[in-house]
Amino acid sequence: MVQLKDKGDYYMVKIELRKVNKIFKPNVHVLKDIDLTIRDKEFMVLVGPSGCGKSTCLNLIAGLEIVTSGEIYFGDQCVNELPPKERKLAMVFQSYALYPHMDVRKNMSFALRLARLKPDEIEKRVQKAANILNISHLLDRKPKELSGGQRQRVALGRCIVRNPTVFLFDEPLSNLDAKLRTQMRAEIIKLQKQLQTTLIYVTHDQVEAMSMADRITILNQGRIQQVGTPHEVYNYPRNKFVAGFIGSPMMNFIECDLESSNLRFGENIIKIPEEYVNKIQPKLNNGLIMGIRPEHIEIKQKPFPGSIEVQISVLEYLGANTVVSFDFKGGISAMAVTSGFYSGKMGDTAYISIPIEKIHIFDAKTEVNLLYNIPIQKFDD
Ligand SMILES: Nc1ncnc2c1ncn2[C@@H]1O[C@H](COP(=O)(O)OP(=O)(O)OP(=O)(O)O)[C@@H](O)[C@H]1O
Ligand SMILES: [Mg+2]
Repeated sequence: MVQLKDKGDYYMVKIELRKVNKIFKPNVHVLKDIDLTIRDKEFMVLVGPSGCGKSTCLNLIAGLEIVTSGEIYFGDQCVNELPPKERKLAMVFQSYALYPHMDVRKNMSFALRLARLKPDEIEKRVQKAANILNISHLLDRKPKELSGGQRQRVALGRCIVRNPTVFLFDEPLSNLDAKLRTQMRAEIIKLQKQLQTTLIYVTHDQVEAMSMADRITILNQGRIQQVGTPHEVYNYPRNKFVAGFIGSPMMNFIECDLESSNLRFGENIIKIPEEYVNKIQPKLNNGLIMGIRPEHIEIKQKPFPGSIEVQISVLEYLGANTVVSFDFKGGISAMAVTSGFYSGKMGDTAYISIPIEKIHIFDAKTEVNLLYNIPIQKFDD
């Protein structure tokens, strides 16, 4: 039987997917040429819209599905032929279920009893995991006597007791309300740092991805769009998909033209530096889309040097900030986020400015970010 090479107590796990494709019959090509390295002890989040292939990717790593082509490596060993239980992984599924008739202790120790570990070893591991998760006082309760968050922790506990080399989490917080989710997020981050284990976490929620990850892999329609730290994918999106997927409210996308060294949209003009012009000139035939994040647009009630006049259409007060929807002359709409309470009213005239170092310009046809990697984009304020 194929086995994972044993490297003693300390097990280094780098996971590598090389040109991985997954095709479900008949002809459903779900993952396309996935090349991805997950580093040892890394918190890697896979994020993307529903149906993009996140769970499939995790199932391939777990060995619950077989690749159609390509290889998966753990360290220097190809695990394509390795059955799931030999992979030393622990997985929390999208819809986890606890055994309702077993108490927490039995739920947590189930896999260990199945593996015929000695009872005192089992108890030691359960106690340790319960301590970490703060559920020691709940060990004798049945799942129905627990809150949602406590149940979630028991599901995590079931994973921890197995001393896995890698954790695979598939939307483990999807059943929780917003407040509990935020709490559990923080606990999972702490847990991963404490256990020093490689963790691959799947979610469709970009906020969750941004707040938890060391690095994020953004998938769309079975292809990797970008891999990077939260900082990188927010500030340096490779393409329009990533730019629109990361950040809330979403980045504004405005169709525009180049006129000498000006971007024109409707009746409005923004002067751009020569470096930008040089990058976009060769792609002009494809059309241009300017991207600017709502939080980077400055908006005021009075005109200021270089400002553009707009009409406010909707105001949403969120407490800490206000989301202002507005229309440029010529009917193009966009959004801005201001801090605190914006005292204007719907229908008011307002004045905005778009900081040139914060704009992105996308090729309208290929959706590639033409300014990706331009050093004059001073994002680190
Ligand atoms: N066993 C299967 N047979 C055929 N098609 C499948 C199978 N499993 C998944 N798919 C298809 O593969 C695509 C990706 O599914 P997957 O479950 O990986 O998506 P996901 O990104 O996890 O989505 P979600 O966020 O909704 O959980 C979907 O279009 C799905 O219908
Ligand atoms: Mg899924």
